[in-house]
Amino acid sequence: MLKEIHEQPNSVKDSMRGRLRANEGIIVLGGIRDYQQKLVQAKRIIIVGCGTSYYAGLVGEYLIEDLARIPVEVEYASEFRYRNPVINADDVVIAISQSGETADTLAAIELAKAKGATIFGICNVVGSSIARTTHAGAYTHAGPEIGVASTKAFTAQLTILSLMALTIAHERGTITESRYHELLIELEQVPQKISLAMENEAQIKYIADVFKDSRNFLYLGRGYNYPVALEGALKLKEISYIHAEGYPAAEMKHGPIALIDEEMPVVVVATNESAFEKIMSNIQEVKARHGRVIVITTENNRHLRESAEFVIEIPRTAEPFTPMISVVPLQLLAYHIAVLLNRNVDQPRNLAKSVTVE
Ligand code: M6R
Repeated sequence: MLKEIHEQPNSVKDSMRGRLRANEGIIVLGGIRDYQQKLVQAKRIIIVGCGTSYYAGLVGEYLIEDLARIPVEVEYASEFRYRNPVINADDVVIAISQSGETADTLAAIELAKAKGATIFGICNVVGSSIARTTHAGAYTHAGPEIGVASTKAFTAQLTILSLMALTIAHERGTITESRYHELLIELEQVPQKISLAMENEAQIKYIADVFKDSRNFLYLGRGYNYPVALEGALKLKEISYIHAEGYPAAEMKHGPIALIDEEMPVVVVATNESAFEKIMSNIQEVKARHGRVIVITTENNRHLRESAEFVIEIPRTAEPFTPMISVVPLQLLAYHIAVLLNRNVDQPRNLAKSVTVE
């Protein structure tokens, strides 16, 4: 798992390789070209997946709605397949799966296909069942992911979703030319920023040692970082067996705040500059109840540095791409806590790498 976490600067670069030519303002997603107009003209996009791939889908919802202004619904494939969903022939479904073999995701695709929808796949494993069943798609090219906890597949999925959202937005004219070019240049720099984010590993190891005996963790994030909070909590629970919940930060006061006391570490993912004020007040609410705050934020954020017990700094990027960087310290935190607790991080109990049965 550690190897795969550290591979991310390269795996994200590999996902973009031959697809992103930022200086020329060009994105080429060869696997979707024949069906690209379906995406551009879609009235609605439905994203399905499970686990980490579902969380990537949630980031995809923010990306596509924010940049391309098409309504997006994200659904657990397992729920979608059994709830008699309304699917129209002009709907577009994006199925996300690292393995390309997840039974629920495969069944959701078959259902949507039978109703006439156009299906795009985002898979890592070349020639996998999902890659073969979909009409079009893009491989993530992250390389084989062996650790049961998904890490580099997630950031690669976000890379493809970013490229797709930018392609649709550009064709639909929902972002200006200058914003499109700025975002392309920014996206190209993400691999290098992931490398920089990893330089905090010694500090994260120290924090892991401080909190390794906690029984519960709360993860909070807003906007693009809400799915990151969910993913951070999933990483911790699956490899350390510590109970962890991810929440949208503003929801804290609607229930989870009752859990907060001196025993409760709260990890706040606060890189969205547009929401700093609000995040600050969430942190004050936690501190007032003696909760212990670990903040992931961008460099030189003095206010957050003064108010949290631990601050992990990551490089600044354009808001739509923050999840690719902000998730890295959360992967490392989960990894180091699990190692300190002597867990088998690569083969956690009760879990399989690919869930091919219901
Ligand atoms: O291969 P898939 O992406 O379809 O797998 C989906 C989930 O089973 C998977 O993401 C699972 O949640 C991971 N263990 C998360 O780390």
